[in-house]
Amino acid sequence: MFRLRPLAPADLGLILDLQERVRSSLDDPGIFQLSTPEFVSYCLGGGGKCYAVTHGAETVAYRIVYFPRGRDFNLAKDTPLPSAEYPYVGHWDTVAVLPEWRGHGLARLMNARALADLSETEIRHLFATSSPNNPHGVRSLLETGFRPFRLVRKFGGRLRFLFYRPTPADWPAMPDGGDERHIGLDAVSELERAFDAGWTGTGIEHHERDGASLRMRRCPLPYGIRCESIATPGTEGGPR
Ligand SMILES: CC(C)(COP(=O)(O)OP(=O)(O)OC[C@H]1O[C@@H](n2cnc3c(N)ncnc32)[C@H](O)[C@@H]1OP(=O)(O)O)[C@@H](O)C(=O)NCCC(=O)NCCS
Repeated sequence: MFRLRPLAPADLGLILDLQERVRSSLDDPGIFQLSTPEFVSYCLGGGGKCYAVTHGAETVAYRIVYFPRGRDFNLAKDTPLPSAEYPYVGHWDTVAVLPEWRGHGLARLMNARALADLSETEIRHLFATSSPNNPHGVRSLLETGFRPFRLVRKFGGRLRFLFYRPTPADWPAMPDGGDERHIGLDAVSELERAFDAGWTGTGIEHHERDGASLRMRRCPLPYGIRCESIATPGTEGGPR
């Protein structure tokens, strides 16, 4: 009943329409960054990979993966990844499911397909952002093998977790029995201090009363370099 299909340049209008519908459905539209037609066209035209899920005649979900290549908007610039690696960077960009179809595993379906497709490309480093106010978005990224390792300001100064996952291999296995911390998604200063001290997010827990918290372990970025502190000026990233 659900069908996943890769998208092509002719699907620009479809994505622009869906992103408007998804954003207007949100209590906090600030968690969902709208993409410009130029950005979506670039991704549809070979500068990325885009997917949609249809249910009958209706398109109910989409996912965009973006390859920054030589373009300015490259999340790796907020990390110590050597610039020689930039051609191998992909962004796990927007994912969106119409409200009535959430919780049916559609994000999971598109993520699995995109990861499988990327394993046949030259892409080796995947970055993503999510608002700390979007526990479903954070959870979806963690489930796809991403880990938040830093807080940054993006898209006009909005606070975002910066996530990383190597591809096609996953993060190296975590040693058994290390220390674990749980920090609320709204405890920004505490999260910043933990990231600066080399902790990364490995899971999310939802609590009835206190909201969601990030489960954290000490774990350096797999490419071996520590990433210091928050929101470097000049790496804003700008509109997409
Ligand atoms: C985040 C989002 C893409 C997740 O899509 P989804 O197809 O509902 O996610 P999945 O069903 O694959 O999620 C996996 C799990 O999270 C749960 N879940 C995800 N989003 C949920 C929601 N909004 N409400 C309730 N449960 C949700 C699912 O039930 C599922 O649980 P399970 O592990 O018990 O099966 C979707 O909530 C969405 O479109 N949100 C608005 C746009 C957005 O925030 N995008 C992310 C930033 S770009």
